[in-house]
Amino acid sequence: MTTGKMFTEKEAELLEEFILNRRDVRGNRFLDKAVEDEILERLIFVALNAPSVGFSQPWEFVIVKDPVIKEQIKQTFNEENNKASACFNDEKQQEYIRLKLEGIIEAPVNIAVFYKPSTGPVLGQTSMEEVGLYSVVCAIQNMWLMARALNIGMGWVSILDPEKVKKILHAPDSNKLVAYLCIGYVDKFSERPELEILHWEKRKEKEAVVFFDRYK
Ligand SMILES: Cc1cc2nc3c(=O)[nH]c(=O)nc-3n(C[C@H](O)[C@H](O)[C@H](O)COP(=O)(O)O)c2cc1C
Repeated sequence: MTTGKMFTEKEAELLEEFILNRRDVRGNRFLDKAVEDEILERLIFVALNAPSVGFSQPWEFVIVKDPVIKEQIKQTFNEENNKASACFNDEKQQEYIRLKLEGIIEAPVNIAVFYKPSTGPVLGQTSMEEVGLYSVVCAIQNMWLMARALNIGMGWVSILDPEKVKKILHAPDSNKLVAYLCIGYVDKFSERPELEILHWEKRKEKEAVVFFDRYK
């Protein structure tokens, strides 16, 4: 007999709905409307309740609202995005240039999420060092789902020079930037990923990625 809190099928379906309706939100969708501090508190609360290797909780968050700082971050996005377009060839490059891939200025709140490595050994992290970073990603996914449940949009920007972001935010040298998040109310939640709608990528079939017992 299982003890502890049990959920109903209806509740499980609701969780699936949050997962299926979560979207990456970019500057074309954010509204010029302040996000209440209570909302930010809830996003941080769920982040702090994410799983982490050895319960190390190796995360730190910088909540950015200052337009001057946002402009500085946008500058590194612009530089990195120009470099990024050169990675794609002709037709894809033209498509890439047209994509809106961030909402740094448009989103009223940005949150930079850092990995703070432990100074001593961490239970569970002794063989695969990267699991510390994975723990931070778990926290970010919690925030993303909670934001969606609160009808708040969130976008992940990774086209940035992490060292420049660290400098702008006065981050400790040993910290590693994991994500730069843009958060705000939106005019619309797309039903499907924008990159799918724009034919940049297709969703993979289950059969292509799931194997039984071993790879074929
Ligand atoms: C680690 C990570 C980094 C990402 N970086 C960016 C980014 O720099 N710019 C962007 O527009 N989207 C970024 N995304 C969002 C993805 O493009 C998006 O998740 C994907 O297209 C699927 O769309 P969906 O999140 O709406 O389902 C990132 C997502 C992840 C998980």
